[in-house]
Amino acid sequence: MTNKEAQSPLSRAAARNANWRDKTIYQIYPMSFADSNGDGMGDIPGIISKLDYLAELGVGYLWLTPVYPSPGNDNGYDISDYRDVDPKFGTLADLEELFAEAHARNIGVIMDMVVNHTSTEHRWFQEALRDPTGPYRDYYIWRRGKGEHGEEPPNNWASKFSGSAWAQDPAHPESGEWYLHLYDRTQADLNWENPRVRAEVIDICRFWAERGIDGFRLDVINNISKDQRFPDDTYETPSHDGRTYYSDGPRAHEFLHLLHEEVFEPYGLITVGEMSSTTTEQCVLYTRPDRGELSMTFSFHHMKVDYPGGAKWARADYDLRDLKHTIATWQQEMIAGEGWNALFWTNHDQPRATSRFLSDAEDVRELCAKTLAITEFGLCGTTYIYQGEELAMRNPGFTAIEQFEDTETVNAYRALMEGGVGANEALACVVEKSRDNCRVPMVWDERAPHGGFSTVDPWFSAPVSTGCAYATSARYAVTNVDSVWHTYQRLIRLRHELPIFTDGSFELLDANSERVFAYERRLKKSGHEERLLVAANFSGEETTFTWPQGDWTVLESTHGRCVVPESLEPYEAIMLHIG
Ligand code: GLC
Repeated sequence: MTNKEAQSPLSRAAARNANWRDKTIYQIYPMSFADSNGDGMGDIPGIISKLDYLAELGVGYLWLTPVYPSPGNDNGYDISDYRDVDPKFGTLADLEELFAEAHARNIGVIMDMVVNHTSTEHRWFQEALRDPTGPYRDYYIWRRGKGEHGEEPPNNWASKFSGSAWAQDPAHPESGEWYLHLYDRTQADLNWENPRVRAEVIDICRFWAERGIDGFRLDVINNISKDQRFPDDTYETPSHDGRTYYSDGPRAHEFLHLLHEEVFEPYGLITVGEMSSTTTEQCVLYTRPDRGELSMTFSFHHMKVDYPGGAKWARADYDLRDLKHTIATWQQEMIAGEGWNALFWTNHDQPRATSRFLSDAEDVRELCAKTLAITEFGLCGTTYIYQGEELAMRNPGFTAIEQFEDTETVNAYRALMEGGVGANEALACVVEKSRDNCRVPMVWDERAPHGGFSTVDPWFSAPVSTGCAYATSARYAVTNVDSVWHTYQRLIRLRHELPIFTDGSFELLDANSERVFAYERRLKKSGHEERLLVAANFSGEETTFTWPQGDWTVLESTHGRCVVPESLEPYEAIMLHIG
């Protein structure tokens, strides 16, 4: 490589992104991360001010949920301009400064890209409404409604945010034409069959690649290709909502390969696709390196183990055996197929994992967060931390429907009530399940007003008066060596040091245990085998575990152990190694 090449921004990006598999990606929900200008809303300069904190934690990338101009009906996942920054977060110049400052700390930046749909306020949609014969009409998916005057939706597909997935042309209701919106009615699905749409998306991705980003997180990307027959869904499942006809749709792989060839590969970007209702077979195809599509995929089957009969808005305890079985299947099948998993316990669409899978009682909240960290970080794939996980944040304890902000939650509450569920149960359900649980502000300093997030009332307040009631503050976590923050810091480092994390096989141990989540990884080396063992007690009872034979050393332990214990204390986890 010549000196000139070595210094070019592109080759620097390629170098930074060469070894992404063993890095940890930190997800930022900018609205609730850090407010720099005292308006109660997190912003980009706020993120810049916390880069040293993130560098010290050791993360390799930041993934920012959308910061583009948006009416905010789905908190930024309804984009009205793909090439700018929403003023509530700052300016394009602020964002470019964030890229530079992050890169100076050897941290890459991944932008969220939402191209299954646009906001109905996007210029394209407005043009599509204004001139039904013009070129923008075909940027979206229009179908004539059923009934003599097209007064019924074209098919029975349901929006993921309740109600029909179709809305009538508001400008020309007499036309009988409806547009598809798999999410909110203000999020109109793009028509990827139209080559102009594909060219626009390529152009947008290039725009950001040219500005020095390191990758994309592609929102609901396996929904972009719809079965062009648009049939009614007749499947007898709780979700006979149409997803059979658009999840991993007919041309999804072709479209992703196109983006890979045109943008991802030439710019050396890493990519993670959000895949709803997918399969391991499909995710192998999306991520196997020789196919040239994506670097890795998020799948959500392990996020559904507490959906009774597949219903999201219903409460049920989960069975640890289901969780283990689901994760083990994804581990083994992705490894066997040479695909790559994105590993996570929570994100901006899920409740907090400590509350959901272990316990968030104050005396064990930190312990449970460490156990989840150890369990995730031993797996095969690329690890993610969602903001606040490193502070053992729990669900903040909502008590009334008026406290929620999220459209999906409010719609679900209404639908539950209309479906005859009593008010108490409907509330209990959203309190437990709402994604707003993850969207309350970070707690930077428990001694400062508003937990140090902002100097004024935040855009969205936790329903408790002091932040430290639902999180350990960052100030405390960084200075206290026993905090979950330090557990993450060590785990992040370990994953860089030992190739077994990325290259080892996976075997679930004691699959039938209702208390212990344990697995072993193995990696053949010349003349011997490296081994890694994780055993985590997901119950509040002391429990025995039969340790596989071996001369184990302790890599990480929730209880500060130096030797393998006889039994596991409540919520105890341990990570062992043979080099
Ligand atoms: C993804 C996002 C979610 C959003 C939806 C529609 O699932 O993560 O927040 O509501 O897509 O864009």
